[in-house]
Amino acid sequence: MDRIRIHGGNRLAGTIPVSGAKNAALPLMAASLLTQDTLQLSNLPHLADISTMAKLLSQHGVALEMNGEASGGHMGRVFSLSAETITNTVASYDLVRTMRASILVLGPLLAREGKAQVSLPGGCAIGTRPVDLHLQGLEQLGAEIELEEGYIKARVKGGLKGAHIVLPMVSVGATENLLMAACLAEGETVISNAAREPEVSDLANCLVAMGAKIDGIGSDTLSVTGVTSLKGAAHEVVADRIETGTYAMAAAITGGDVILAGGRLDLIESTVETLTRAGVEITPTEEGIRVRCKGEKVEGVDTMTEPFPGFPTDLQAQIMALLSCAKGASMVTETIFENRFMHVPELCRMGANIHVHGASAIIRGVEGLTGAQVMATDLRASVSLVLAGLAAQGETVVNRVYHLDRGYERLEEKLAACGAEITRIRE
Ligand code: UD1
Repeated sequence: MDRIRIHGGNRLAGTIPVSGAKNAALPLMAASLLTQDTLQLSNLPHLADISTMAKLLSQHGVALEMNGEASGGHMGRVFSLSAETITNTVASYDLVRTMRASILVLGPLLAREGKAQVSLPGGCAIGTRPVDLHLQGLEQLGAEIELEEGYIKARVKGGLKGAHIVLPMVSVGATENLLMAACLAEGETVISNAAREPEVSDLANCLVAMGAKIDGIGSDTLSVTGVTSLKGAAHEVVADRIETGTYAMAAAITGGDVILAGGRLDLIESTVETLTRAGVEITPTEEGIRVRCKGEKVEGVDTMTEPFPGFPTDLQAQIMALLSCAKGASMVTETIFENRFMHVPELCRMGANIHVHGASAIIRGVEGLTGAQVMATDLRASVSLVLAGLAAQGETVVNRVYHLDRGYERLEEKLAACGAEITRIRE
């Protein structure tokens, strides 16, 4: 298994290109199941999760073609996806267990074929993460669902019918699954308390380009008037706000000055607000965003994760690494996922002073971190250890790099180009 070795202490300076968002690309790829025509997606990141989704879709009969890389210098890939005929409506355990987002094929398959069988994703490292909201919503659209032998078995007689669905809590995945299904349901569907994440809006905009009728994009109420079929379209995947925020924090933790090319300030407002309070200067530039540290160290700040437009849970581990080296104390509260503090013991092994009390962590800034052998259990936790390694004295080796490869394209290349001493040890 590959590892990443970092020699900490270098100040980052230079330009980092922001890739297309993984969490937008995955539902967009699943949306190709909704039409017989070709969906062309550009600015796709080159990541393990994208390959997993491609493999899953090809098992359903989707023909995939990669048409080189888009211009613009961001290396985004272009995929053409054609689900002319769906040959198989079963998403098997092998693939679903490696990627929870596989559940996103459920809504489209059910809407187009009237049946689908998807392995239950099961628990994962950051909590129980059930799919009950996806299933309840689809039942409200008329699906009959049974759980058998570890599989969700869903079918609908006579097609899905529009309904008013009130989500009891904000769920990105459930909103996306229900939105895709509702596009081909008969009549009107209203999704109340819908997730407002930019990735949901990106999906909705692509569905509209495919001929769907959706009102309220970007709000917490999505109204969909069903159509009998959707057509092909060309769509560019939105910039990755989590990657943008991660590199903003990488710049901050090293006292650096970095341009995030292609990064969009409007997608990371709460992150900008938190980092500004911590003393980081963030300004728009022609290319994207400039992140600059005013002092050598940031100031301690309190923050809490919330659904968009609040501070994202996917940046919680990274800000904790940053605040570990801040002046003074900080409190970080996680409200989206239970058990998402798996990075804390590893950060403490690098010298951080963090105490977890329920859903909150108190972080007392230390003079400096020290390099260590570390390992993490999920994607964002792993990258927080990379950030800590960039600031630490001496050598840090991050194990289980496959987590990073799921969500960060060319991580070591992007950081090394800004002066980080970081290499991949291939094994
Ligand atoms: C998506 C993102 C993930 C991010 C998360 C929250 C993708 C591929 N992944 O995950 O990176 O961390 O949003 O912003 O886009 N819940 C239920 N029942 C359900 C569904 C969710 O109880 O049926 C709960 C979850 O356990 C969690 C909360 O709702 O506590 C939010 O989860 P959700 O927004 O659904 O996350 P994902 O879509 O899985």
